[in-house]
Amino acid sequence: MNDIYKKLEMCLKSVRTKTDFQPEVALILGSGLGDYADGIQIEQTVDYTEIEGFPVSTVAGHKGRFVFGYVGEVPVVVMQGRVHYYEGYPMSDVVLPTRLMGMMGAKKLILTNAAGGVNFDYKPGDFMMITDHITTAVPSPLIGPNIDELGARFPDMSEVYSLRIREIIREEAKKLGISLREGVYAQLTGPAYETPAEIRMCRSWGADAVGMSTACEAMAARHMGMEVCGISCITNLAAGMSTKQLDHKEVQETADRVAAQFKALLTAIVSNI
Ligand code: HPA
Repeated sequence: MNDIYKKLEMCLKSVRTKTDFQPEVALILGSGLGDYADGIQIEQTVDYTEIEGFPVSTVAGHKGRFVFGYVGEVPVVVMQGRVHYYEGYPMSDVVLPTRLMGMMGAKKLILTNAAGGVNFDYKPGDFMMITDHITTAVPSPLIGPNIDELGARFPDMSEVYSLRIREIIREEAKKLGISLREGVYAQLTGPAYETPAEIRMCRSWGADAVGMSTACEAMAARHMGMEVCGISCITNLAAGMSTKQLDHKEVQETADRVAAQFKALLTAIVSNI
């Protein structure tokens, strides 16, 4: 059996010794949204450190856990803290939690993140519904022997972000009075922010926003047939687009400023998905 699949099965077994909760929707929380999981009707939590084989960050104070519970009537699993490629894990480990949530039973995946705005029309605090992505600048999580148990060797990626869910997101944002951008997300490795030249490259490639996560998770989820959607919080103008230097503090401050709106939108999406 494929080594990565073996590890996934080991992780699943480990989770199943703690809970047999069957999620329908999986959520990955980006910057500023971490405490969304604390506000749902929690049934059970499982720390990443409790899961045998799970990629656990060695960085002090980096907590992470799966939260199982309900948003309204909908059973969900929420990742409170994600795994980033820049932390040093192989891509197969970066997407392991996503695949694991799929193997737990989640059929739909909602991805969120903080991102830099590449499109000159965007401003900090905007929300962008992801319509497509560019992963050319990071290794594919599907490289290596194919995991036949999960999906095809050459999976189609022509509709990574579900048109059906995109329509729901549009409607729910409108009902909440949240103005929503729609655009293409480009994933780069980080951890350094990009250079102005890299941002010009992203723009010429057709990207509207740039970040260090998400697209690889979306790709792994689509490989295994999950229905995917994603929303970025534009926390800053990307490098070279303003006179300001980029710093993590600004990213966090903007994400925190609009977190309440973002959470309301998430609840509306989960309830109607
Ligand atoms: N670049 C990459 N990732 C990011 C940015 C950015 O400007 N802002 C938030 N995450």
